[in-house]
Amino acid sequence: MRVAIASDHGGFEQKQALVAYMESELGCEVIDMGPDSDASVDYPDFAVKVAEAVSTGDAERGVLVCGTGIGMALAADKVAGVRASSITSVPFAELFRQHNNGNVVCLSGRFVELELNEQIVKTFLETEFEGGRHEARVAKIMALD
Ligand code: RB5
Repeated sequence: MRVAIASDHGGFEQKQALVAYMESELGCEVIDMGPDSDASVDYPDFAVKVAEAVSTGDAERGVLVCGTGIGMALAADKVAGVRASSITSVPFAELFRQHNNGNVVCLSGRFVELELNEQIVKTFLETEFEGGRHEARVAKIMALD
């Protein structure tokens, strides 16, 4: 799967580790959209890069990491076609895919350990949307774009 990833300074360290994890353990083709260092940056600038990659179909899914995951989710979700959420547990990652057909997962680099974020990413990338009764609900969300 082709996956776009980015962070701000609060998520930089985990972003670097997650790129390696997704490539080596999950066999993903990862597009690292920056930043290249832990220097202070504004998270919306990086959220939009990943959100647009997903929106245009350049990437199938997106991963964003900031201090909390919240700012990234707020920014990414503004882009049409994107369903982004801050996720801090594996069950929520599973439901985000099964019920919401989420396509951009936003992680906390400061309050969630790397090992848990790896499991969240694995679940996010490997869980299918259930469709069925969720189809019309997700369509109503997308009609708000
Ligand atoms: C940056 O200090 C911090 O605000 C950011 O990483 C993120 O947590 C925003 O939601």
